[in-house]
Amino acid sequence: MIDDTSIYRSFTVTSIIDETNNAKSFEIKPTDNIPITYQAGQFITLVFPKTNKEDRRSYSFSSAPVLNEPMRITIKRIANGEYSRQLFNHIKPGDTLISSGISGFFRLPDQLDHVRQFVFLAAGSGITPIYSLLKTVLHTTRLPVVLIYSNYSEEETIFHSELLGLRSQFPERFKIEFLFSQSEIQPRRLSKFLLHALLEEHAIPLQETLFYVCGPVNYMLVVSISLITVGVPREHIRKENFNTRQHLIKPLPPDTDAHRVKVFINNAQYEFTVQYPDTILAAAKKLQIQLPYSCEAGNCGSCTATCVQGTTWMAYNEVLMDDEIKKGKVLTCQGYPVGGDVVLQY
Ligand SMILES: Cc1cc2nc3c(=O)[nH]c(=O)nc-3n(C[C@H](O)[C@H](O)[C@H](O)COP(=O)(O)OP(=O)(O)OC[C@H]3O[C@@H](n4cnc5c(N)ncnc54)[C@H](O)[C@@H]3O)c2cc1C
Ligand code: FES
Repeated sequence: MIDDTSIYRSFTVTSIIDETNNAKSFEIKPTDNIPITYQAGQFITLVFPKTNKEDRRSYSFSSAPVLNEPMRITIKRIANGEYSRQLFNHIKPGDTLISSGISGFFRLPDQLDHVRQFVFLAAGSGITPIYSLLKTVLHTTRLPVVLIYSNYSEEETIFHSELLGLRSQFPERFKIEFLFSQSEIQPRRLSKFLLHALLEEHAIPLQETLFYVCGPVNYMLVVSISLITVGVPREHIRKENFNTRQHLIKPLPPDTDAHRVKVFINNAQYEFTVQYPDTILAAAKKLQIQLPYSCEAGNCGSCTATCVQGTTWMAYNEVLMDDEIKKGKVLTCQGYPVGGDVVLQY
């Protein structure tokens, strides 16, 4: 449900670009013309109102803010997908999209002193945030960039010609490995062996390289395990997970008692009781308190708050790095107050 005190903003679709048979980019701008900022690699969460409820879906920006490109999201139509098909099939220039905010931790680090190289690994629509990130790195640093990009075929490869254009623009620094699993000439599917071979071929300095990975769940698993086996430190692997499936087996919080949670958000303050099995976000939703969220599975980071008092324990976390957790960041969709009351700040 959407009301006036909300965190929602509306965006007007200004233009639509056909990327492949199943993917389109949508250029959007805030309907009220009040500028909004985002960083390369982040995503916007779209809200789809329904009777007495709403659904949310997140879409990464393919545009790079540093290049002053219009805000652009790129959406792949999923067979049987409710909203990707609706957006792909029905949205026209001039239509309005409602958003509950922009977020995401799949960003470039503030400091690049320790980084000698970037390797981006994408599969299918996973190229969307990676395209934004790699344009940013190419245009704002002198660091070499390798993109390893998996698709069924060239025709299904989002941004294929744009990437070739970037390679011509940065021939010394930008290398691309297109892997087409259904190529008649040279079918290539990413495996542990192929990835290791490509890392050797491109002489990647594993300890000083940042790896960014985005694609289907199994792809991300193969890539992450392969990188760790070859000696890449875990903290050098950044992942963006488009999957919104819940993890069925979750550990029990160390304390399942009811505790009070106080939340500060957008100049408003709320206080409510949270008791297992409800997470902080679930308890707030039951009371119709509007907090940011998207996947509700611990995968996207939209629901992140900072715990400024007390202890919040997370059942699952696929996004926050150790240093962010040390600063008090928590995923409220996975978070429970433990050992007493807590105060959260958005
Ligand atoms: C942080 C984040 C960023 C994202 N960025 C993008 C983006 O830039 N571009 C983009 O196209 N999508 C992106 N997604 C995925 C997007 O939010 C939706 O999940 C996707 O569009 C499917 O929504 P739907 O309503 O069409 O499908 P649903 O009706 O929710 O699901 C229909 C069926 O498709 C399956 N399914 C759902 N999502 C996917 C998927 N991603 N791949 C394969 N099968 C799926 C479901 O399990 C289900 O069986 C992102 C997701 C997250 C969490
Ligand atoms: S809503 Fe996605 S991590 Fe919590």
